[in-house]
Amino acid sequence: MSDSVVSSIMSDSIITLIDVEKSFGKNKVVKKMNIDIKEGEFITLLGPSGCGKTTTLRMIAGFEEASSGIIKVQGESIEDKEPFERDVNTVFQNYALFPHMTVFDNIAYGLKIRKRPKDEISKRVNEMLDLVQLKGYENRKPDALSGGQKQRVAIARALINNPKVLLLDEPLGALDLKLRKQMQVELKRLQKKLGITFIYVTHDQEEALTMSDRIAVMNEGVIEQLATPQEIYNRPITKFVAGFIGESNIFDGKVTSIKDEVLEVETLAGTMKVKGNGFNVGEDIHVSIRPEYIKVSRDPVEGFNLRGTVKDFTYMGTVVKTSVDLKDNTEIKYSRFEKDEDFKEKDSVNIYWNPERAVAIKASK
Ligand SMILES: Nc1ncnc2c1ncn2[C@@H]1O[C@H](COP(=O)(O)OP(=O)(O)O)[C@@H](O)[C@H]1O
Ligand SMILES: [Mg+2]
Repeated sequence: MSDSVVSSIMSDSIITLIDVEKSFGKNKVVKKMNIDIKEGEFITLLGPSGCGKTTTLRMIAGFEEASSGIIKVQGESIEDKEPFERDVNTVFQNYALFPHMTVFDNIAYGLKIRKRPKDEISKRVNEMLDLVQLKGYENRKPDALSGGQKQRVAIARALINNPKVLLLDEPLGALDLKLRKQMQVELKRLQKKLGITFIYVTHDQEEALTMSDRIAVMNEGVIEQLATPQEIYNRPITKFVAGFIGESNIFDGKVTSIKDEVLEVETLAGTMKVKGNGFNVGEDIHVSIRPEYIKVSRDPVEGFNLRGTVKDFTYMGTVVKTSVDLKDNTEIKYSRFEKDEDFKEKDSVNIYWNPERAVAIKASK
């Protein structure tokens, strides 16, 4: 356990995972996971299907036991507590509503099993209906609701227990794009208003970027980077993160010279520059550059030797996506505003960028 993990447990942490691992038989699906979640934080576990997101969430919820490591809620180890004893509630992608119960009874469920008085239940359910904007729907059965409405009932049902932490496993996955975008905004507002901690699981990087205070990018059971959306987007620390978040051009190469923290890198596609520190001449490196930072010139640019041929254009409203084939057949993606430039298909061009806009990534990562 590192010192930083120990010291942060003593501050306003609400959930802490220390070296948590999970195996199913010989298959280790969560590896040495360390994460420290603050009270009121919106944190997202983001990664491709099968990387261990749901398993992590289920361990926090208590539906699954960790194979090793420690999970704490507000500094207390919770291994010995049953799921219903934890101040943690879960919302699933498939809603898991009781089909034979009305909206009212579905939402009231958590208080009923706690044997709360009738008038308290009625008051709280009405507050929840208000909160998720479902007043007037209380006597319907789930079958008579849209996907978005079902999801709101599921959220209300979880929130009525006043959890300190709400776990959401791909809660918007079944909704169409427009409704999903709308629910993203609503959920974020709700979380701010209530001030409770959300641990949100998604494989959708755009969703993670818009909603989260911090994102844990997972790959094969490992958190590769845990940081704010801005840092994840602008400063990916592994090749996987650079490739998974947004669109990027990623090159493999070797550092050939270094001057004032600007590295000259030789790749199969040609020579390029990137700002970076902690690298040595001769070291293997990845260079990542976003399509929006690519520049194109007819004349050669100092420090760059990336000649290519303009391949095609894709018009996307005000932005044009362009691809350029380089000499090793790498395809560079770049985007620009329609009015910006006057290159045509088959034009010979030189690709370059501001070295500070590119990201230098250790090849070992
Ligand atoms: N109960 C289980 N028994 C065996 N393997 C499981 C079980 N649950 C999940 N897995 C495996 O663990 C890995 C991670 O699964 P999961 O956490 O559901 O990933 P994600 O939610 O990121 O898609 C997958 O390879 C999955 O097949
Ligand atoms: Mg899952």
